[in-house]
Order: sequence, then structure tokens, then C-alpha cells
Amino acid sequence: MSKKTTVKTLNAISEKGLSLLTEDYQLDEQADNPEGIVLRSYNMHDMTFPSNLKAIARAGAGVNNIPLDRATEEGIVVFNTPGANANAVKELVLTSLMASSRQIFDGIMWVKTLADQGADVPKLVEQGKKQFVGKEISGKTLGVIGLGAIGARVANDAVELGMDVIGYDPFISIDMAWNLSRAVQRVLDIQEVFEKADYITMHIPLTDDTKEMFNKDTFKVMKDNVYILNFSRGELVHDDDMKQALEDGVVGKYITDFPNAKTLTMKHAIPIPHLGASSEESEENCAIMAVRQLMDYLETGNIKNS
Ligand code: MLT
Repeated sequence: MSKKTTVKTLNAISEKGLSLLTEDYQLDEQADNPEGIVLRSYNMHDMTFPSNLKAIARAGAGVNNIPLDRATEEGIVVFNTPGANANAVKELVLTSLMASSRQIFDGIMWVKTLADQGADVPKLVEQGKKQFVGKEISGKTLGVIGLGAIGARVANDAVELGMDVIGYDPFISIDMAWNLSRAVQRVLDIQEVFEKADYITMHIPLTDDTKEMFNKDTFKVMKDNVYILNFSRGELVHDDDMKQALEDGVVGKYITDFPNAKTLTMKHAIPIPHLGASSEESEENCAIMAVRQLMDYLETGNIKNS
């Protein structure tokens, strides 16, 4: 009987994906020396790679939790699942855009807190509707930085919601460019997005070039009271500068899927506990794609990141 290939998961991975492992594989959470690893957000930077490890499959888009240089040096292939969670993230971005613009998050927190303290609910309702007057997004300008699987979907649907959309992406693929609505105005200079947008959403990876690209210098050129949405990575934003910009009213709201101790307490920050990809459908899609890629590579040497 030939030896089975050992696969280990470092995070909870949807059964829909794991059940695809054929009888040639054994899933062993305790394995010290697996050939394949499937993970979601587990931080592998401090981990020594097992000597048998051949491939890592990340059930998600970002790969900054994996030391790519070290993996390359050691001949370990890293996969991600671009696009598999794009619809889930897009839906949450647009939900958050509309909800924050209409002050829904602040209104809910306010009414629950005061009602819990015994305030008269009909009076709260009377007061609330005057206190939380929001803005409609239709007719406003949305700046989308990064027009990949998620950014392009956000841009296209925002057009349908009546927004004027400006998109910036120096690396847009031909496929993505074809799929982008003609109504999305593509600009070659990111400054144009910063200057014109009422709302800015970022859909870019964290790299040395993009780290803290949202900082006091970039806030300076933005419209007063701009809303910034970060469903990409927390480190794209300089936290102290953001705190100051929120206090000064330069940034009206910071909606982030990456709260940390600093951003949680910021005035007008809306911290979301990294729910962008957390839908049943997206967890299944990512797990299925990750497991298929892993098996394909381990069996045939095929490197297909889709
Ligand atoms: C991603 O990079 O796609 C997300 O961080 C996914 C996740 O939440 O696991």
C-alpha cells in the first residue's frame, strides 16, 4: 500500500473543501511533517517549515501571513484563492459604505446604550432621527484604489447605485479592464482620486510600497470629511495620522475591517472584526479552491493559482 500524503490545517477550514481530499491523502491536525498545509489567517512568519512541506494553500486572497521569500528559498509553493471571497468582501464594503453614510452604526450603538440605561425609547426615537441625519451615496464620488477581483466588483456595483466612480490601478489586468463598467472613470494619477472622492475604498495588497500610504500627506489632499474604507490590510493606514485626521474632521469616518487597539478607540472609527470574507459561501469557495490547488500541485506539479 502506497503511503498517503499528509495535509494539515492551521485554521478552521470549511468541510466542503476538506472533504475533497481523496483517499490518497490523510488529514492530520497533529502532523509534525506534512506535505501540504491549508490555512486562513494563521501567522506563519515565526514557524520553521516542516522538512517535507511542498505546498501551502491560503484560503483567502492576502498572503502577508506567509513568509514568501523563505518559502521560495525552500522550494515551497504558495497558493492563494483570488476571487473566491470577492463577492463576500464586495457586499460588506457596499453595506458598510451605505450604513456608515446613513449613520446606522452610530445610531444603533446610541439607541441600544441609552435604552439599556433605562432611557425612554419613544423619546430616543424622536431625538435619534434629528441627531443621525445621514448622506445619500447616490450622486457622490467613490474613489476605488485597486481594480482587482474585489475593487472592480465594488466599482461596478457602486455605478449601479448611482455613484460617480473613479478607479485607480496601475497594474489592472486585461480581463479586469474588460469587466469594468464603462461608467467607471479610470485615472492614471492616484492624486486625482484623493482630490475628488467623497468616499475612498482601498483594494490593494500590503507591500513595502503600499504600507501606510494613507497618512498625513495623503489626507492633506483629500476633501474634508472624506470617508475611508479599509477592507484590505490595517497597515495600509498610518494609525496615528488617521487618529489625528479623524479628530480634525479631515476624515469623516474610518471604516476598517482591521481594528487594533488604536483604531478601536478612534473617534468616528467604525471597527469591524474582520468579517469581509466571513460568509458561508466565501468560506466554502476559498476552501474548495485551496484544496483543489494543493492536490493538483502535489499530484501533477501543476501550479494554477485559480
Ligand atoms: C483575505 O486576505 O482574503 C482575507 O483576509 C480572508 C480572510 O478573512 O481569511
